[in-house]
Amino acid sequence: METAASQPTKRPVISATGLYTPAESISNEELVEAFNAYVARHNAEHADAIEAGEMEPLQPSSVEFIEKASGIRSRHVINKAPIIDPAVMEPRHADRDDEELSLMAEIGVAACREALERAGRSPNDVDAVLCAASNMQRPYPAMAIEIQQALGVEGFGFDMNVACSSATFGIQTAADYIRAGNARSVLVVSPEITSGHLNWRDRDSHFIFGDVATAVLVEDAAIAPPQHWEILGTRLKTVFSNNIRNNFGFLNRAAPETQGTADKLFVQEGRKVFKEVVPMVAQMIVDEAERLAIDPRALRRMWLHQANAGMNRLIAHKVLGHEASEDESPTVLDTYGNTSSAGSIIAFHLHSENLEMGDTGLICSFGAGYSAGTVFVKKVG
Ligand code: COA
Repeated sequence: METAASQPTKRPVISATGLYTPAESISNEELVEAFNAYVARHNAEHADAIEAGEMEPLQPSSVEFIEKASGIRSRHVINKAPIIDPAVMEPRHADRDDEELSLMAEIGVAACREALERAGRSPNDVDAVLCAASNMQRPYPAMAIEIQQALGVEGFGFDMNVACSSATFGIQTAADYIRAGNARSVLVVSPEITSGHLNWRDRDSHFIFGDVATAVLVEDAAIAPPQHWEILGTRLKTVFSNNIRNNFGFLNRAAPETQGTADKLFVQEGRKVFKEVVPMVAQMIVDEAERLAIDPRALRRMWLHQANAGMNRLIAHKVLGHEASEDESPTVLDTYGNTSSAGSIIAFHLHSENLEMGDTGLICSFGAGYSAGTVFVKKVG
């Protein structure tokens, strides 16, 4: 008889990843042109109040500032035209019938299909779908269950939100299901339609976000394709902070006139975030590497959260002990912008093929909450 002690240990691995990139993108030049047209229009409309000193004029944005402060040059979005229309300046999506696949599920399904195809896996083989993202299109039914149904997966699905760290928290959750024997194959999908929570009229942040969807297939090594990424260890951390906040929620419905304005969208104290999160994350990576007996300076590659090029430069330097090359810490935020929890997964998806068997790397997220997650991986095959 097989006892618990004699059962083979279940080892979670990443079998494959998938990526959906919207066809449309907005360059900094296009974005700033629209923003500055909005500013000129606003200031002209309020010329008398500004002249009388009753109102401060809005200030224009600049391409140079955006690139220097963030490293972002363009961002993909699902629906570009209304965002860069100075009279609209927000995304607009046509309502869909309840029988149609919702937008968030649609892009999530596209990313999942690619991950399944790359792993040579059929939806029948998947036991669970976790939709891990910063914003859900609706409270219920869960996006994950809609994605599960559209893919034809049996088993279960649920949504989880840990802002920019949703995907790494999802990977650890999936890995724990596999270790516990509750699932053998789990899709962690992160459809991030971040254009919806961004205040495109706010000079301090209008350039930050972009839309995308990623998927990570986490499986028991026993069923994974021969070439995969062993999960050496995961670590999660949360520390409450109001420095990145969004007050939109179902309890605001009594005041519809405040929906979509100011604090019902993404707001942040960018400088404080920068200063507080960099040391916290660098220390977390070093501590976790030590726990796993990994020399952080020998990491072959770091796929860091993609919010700010300067933050990544500092974190990578503290961990590696030298200025990281693009090869050691690849950037995708230059063309994707900040894609919340999907950022480090995009970097991993696009920049992991050329690693050698046995190479060790780190997927790392950080953001609102604060929340941070590390996933150390080794290429096997
Ligand atoms: N165009 C031109 N100038 C701008 C501008 C814009 N769009 N936005 C702000 N400025 C100006 C400010 O008014 C300020 O001017 P002042 O020095 O005369 O007061 C100056 O540029 C610096 O502004 P500041 O907000 O301090 O910029 P920053 O260098 O801190 O960069 C961020 C801003 C947001 C790019 C940066 O702080 C950041 O990325 N932080 C981390 C954020 C993060 O990771 N968040 C997680 C999100 S999930």
